[in-house]
Amino acid sequence: MKVEPAVAVVGHVAVPGDKSISHRSVLLGGLGEGETHVQGFGRSADTMATVDAMRSLGVEVEELGDDELRVHGVGLRGLRSPDGPVDCANAGTLIRLLAGIVAGQEGRFELTGDESLRTRPMERIAEPLRRMGANIETEDGHAPVVIQGTDALQGIDYSLPVASAQVKSAVLLAGLNANRETTVVEPKPTRDHTELMLEAAGVKVRRRPGSVTIDPAGALRLGEIVVPGDFSSAAPLFVAVALVPGSDVTVHELGLNPRRIGLLDVLERMGARVSIFNRRRAGREPVGDVQVQHGELIATEITPDEVPLLVDELPLVALLGTHARGETIVRGAAELRVKESDRIEAVTDLLRACGARIHSTEDGWRVVGVPRRLKGGRVDARGDHRIAMLGAIAGLASKEGVEIEGADTVGVSFPGFFDLLDSVVRR
Ligand code: S3P
Repeated sequence: MKVEPAVAVVGHVAVPGDKSISHRSVLLGGLGEGETHVQGFGRSADTMATVDAMRSLGVEVEELGDDELRVHGVGLRGLRSPDGPVDCANAGTLIRLLAGIVAGQEGRFELTGDESLRTRPMERIAEPLRRMGANIETEDGHAPVVIQGTDALQGIDYSLPVASAQVKSAVLLAGLNANRETTVVEPKPTRDHTELMLEAAGVKVRRRPGSVTIDPAGALRLGEIVVPGDFSSAAPLFVAVALVPGSDVTVHELGLNPRRIGLLDVLERMGARVSIFNRRRAGREPVGDVQVQHGELIATEITPDEVPLLVDELPLVALLGTHARGETIVRGAAELRVKESDRIEAVTDLLRACGARIHSTEDGWRVVGVPRRLKGGRVDARGDHRIAMLGAIAGLASKEGVEIEGADTVGVSFPGFFDLLDSVVRR
């Protein structure tokens, strides 16, 4: 697919429901008592892998509409072990959270996924789950992950070696079925969707700066979940707006969890204009309408503390850097090497192929920017949805357009991505 240059990016849009919250709504809904009604479900290959996985574990999930589900919970220990492996496809969130969930269920569970997922580190969840008494094996640290469930999990105090919401969530979810409270200490604050949803379900959650403790739960009661728009799906649009002069886009009903929206701070300090309207809540999650307007960009530095607040948006920050006056530096982002692809190398190769001056470091990039359009070129999405979206936005902001190999991988998180772009791009 070729993405041609844009004259401007203008309009009012909404994006599909948040991927992280959508996964959790089905996982926790499945463990709930009775029915959970999910509105604004962000349907994608990743979140449907979660629906299919929970179905294979005995949970009935009704599709009431494209973005509306009814999940019939089987209770905290009610999952049944399936005949074969559970296919988690490309979804790291699914395999890691599900490992925590099945650790406390009766039976044997084998969790696996696609080629990319089978290269990603799984000892980071296996290690704390073993400390809780789980029987869990990985294959050289990777999927397939085989778990023999037990009803004798113990609550632990666990300090995360890496800032990861997926690992934190796996431990907390196992803690629901443990014999005493479970505490997770985080080196840096990461997204807290699991904690917020558990709280809404009636679990006792105690939050202190840097740690969270939950009590074992008797039952989860969710009832209604309204999923806000996915900030990470709106982010490519915001970056297109920042790059292309004359652009102005408002995204409505967008999730504004403070641990997800680090990109807004970065856009502002680089020179774009950001306004937030209609702040409200969807359940416990903050929501609002966000307007971004183009401005001349200047370089910035992303520090390690900021990284978890925009971890999935960092490839887009590198692109911003190519158009910003000065040197943009990203540090402390080594986690990007173990995402759906090695995003440090994927971004470097992609932006270089488009004419950028970028160097990878062990844990980030140095980008020398100039306030004019990249040339454009041919790039490979490497089977990574966020890299495909990066290529598309680079194309909009380029002189000659960008040809993307494997662009359909956007369907992992946002199947309607290219249609949405078409609706706001002026050529
Ligand atoms: C996610 C957490 C993040 C993020 C991923 C989704 C989640 O991963 O990159 O896209 O839903 O918990 P880590 O927590 O492993 O950094």
